[in-house]
Amino acid sequence: MLKRIVYGVCGAAIVGLGLFSLYAWNPAIDPVIPAQTDYSPQVIEQGKTLAAAGYCSTCHTPPGGTAYAGNYEMHTDFGTIYSSNITPDVETGIGNWSEAAFSRAMRTGVSRDGHHLLPAFPYEHFNKMTDDDISAIYAYIMTSVPAVSQVKKDNGIPFPLNIRWFQAGWKLLFADTQPFEVNSQQSAKWNRGAYLAQGIAHCGACHTPRNALGGEKYAQMYQGAAIDGWIAPSLTSTSTSPIPWRSQDFYEYLTTGNSPYHGSAAGPMAPVMHKGLSALPSSDLQAISGYFADLAGTNKTDQSQTSSTLQAAITAQHQQPDLRIDEGARLYASACQACHYNSDQLVKGRPLITIGSATHLDAPTNLINVILDGVRNDQGIRGVVMPGFRDALSDKDISAIAAYLRQTAGESTWPKLQQQVGEIRNQPRFEH
Ligand code: HEC
Ligand code: HEC
Ligand code: HEC
Repeated sequence: MLKRIVYGVCGAAIVGLGLFSLYAWNPAIDPVIPAQTDYSPQVIEQGKTLAAAGYCSTCHTPPGGTAYAGNYEMHTDFGTIYSSNITPDVETGIGNWSEAAFSRAMRTGVSRDGHHLLPAFPYEHFNKMTDDDISAIYAYIMTSVPAVSQVKKDNGIPFPLNIRWFQAGWKLLFADTQPFEVNSQQSAKWNRGAYLAQGIAHCGACHTPRNALGGEKYAQMYQGAAIDGWIAPSLTSTSTSPIPWRSQDFYEYLTTGNSPYHGSAAGPMAPVMHKGLSALPSSDLQAISGYFADLAGTNKTDQSQTSSTLQAAITAQHQQPDLRIDEGARLYASACQACHYNSDQLVKGRPLITIGSATHLDAPTNLINVILDGVRNDQGIRGVVMPGFRDALSDKDISAIAAYLRQTAGESTWPKLQQQVGEIRNQPRFEH
């Protein structure tokens, strides 16, 4: 009897494995040389805009490297991943890929030769795009990106996670394979914003929390997540920002790199807006802003509440603490206040730190990152710089300033702050 059960279980496992390998297997798509290039200038231009908005070059170009030639290093919980060469080089890039092969990769994460690609390549989001938009990106790459010979480095992912075949199981469990769904209850503008955010701009790839195996938790879409040593804050009603993100706040942040009520776009958000979203026409950025304001529920915000929160924050920043006793206040006054001066009005580019998101997040990560490394010329507002204090202030100093700011902002102290500052100081630093 027992034997029969064992045989039965083994048999089922073998049949299951067989079915799975059938499912996991994808044919190679024949190479084409030369690839199709007879696209109209309009289509190529559309592809150029979309490629920018999808930050293809940010992920496919290492710092100082050749555009689109790959080997940009991504650090994940599962190991180091290198992006592919997607220039039209025939030997080492995608020069012999047909449009069908490109489209399959963009929609299902399968390479031309049939191997599964890792979800570090956000194909789950690109799958939301229309055929025309994917075709336009192909047209742009094949006609306008110079071919560069460069072999992709091997990913540093340990066995057995490096078995590509397993990705089929991951896709089965976690990948969102649904096409973009138009919400007929909403306006065309809302749907345009949703289409861009969910698809090409893949905001959720950073702002949606992931499960232990790296799958996006769709039930908590855009509710905030850790990424590259930063926190991509919640963009929904769960945002901890004291002043709700209205449509005009999103628009200002996404177009200038700063919202006076919330802070700057530094870290991984800087290239998203400066290199990515800046390619989109303002109508598209309005649409994205309106979509997120709707998700955050701020279209119906009571404006008087916003102005009283703002007034309270300004007043709090005016209060003069006793500099003889509060070390954080003393350090803040000497290191920060020259630029972040008190004012009765919000001055553009001079964030009022007591209401800024960095001070109000549940973790000190973004505030500490900004104090350590500042805000570069090409981050936040273009051309506006904040110096970093990595070499000037100790962990103790920085935690004293952060604790003082939290207190002024009416929030409880972050636990084990000084230890956290040390950890954030020593975490690997990524180029953004
Ligand atoms: C967040 C980073 C990221 C972004 C953004 C990104 N890619 Fe990639 N892409 C990768 C990584 C990493 C790989 C390799 C994955 C692997 O090794 O399995 C890859 C692989 C690919 C491949 C497969 C190449 C091959 O030889 O199999 C194509 C095609 C591709 N990307 C196109 C694009 C395009 C087009 C865009 C912009 C619309 C884009 N990618 C944006 C990270 C990214
Ligand atoms: C590569 C990862 C990444 C992607 C993609 C990304 N973000 Fe971000 N985002 C971040 C990080 C990290 C921050 C925090 C930046 C800081 O504090 O300086 C951030 C901050 C923000 C903020 C400010 C939130 C606050 O409360 O301060 C907004 C708004 C925002 N992102 C919107 C978007 C939108 C809209 C998209 C898609 C069009 C998007 N982001 C795509 C990583 C990302
Ligand atoms: C030399 C002027 C200067 C000094 C000194 C300075 N800042 Fe800033 N800070 C800025 C400017 C300008 C910005 C906006 C940068 C941008 O958006 O491009 C900024 C932005 C910020 C932000 C918002 C970042 C975000 O991602 O939302 C925080 C928080 C901040 N500063 C904290 C501090 C603290 C704390 C100190 C003292 C340790 C300090 N700053 C010292 C000029 C300064």
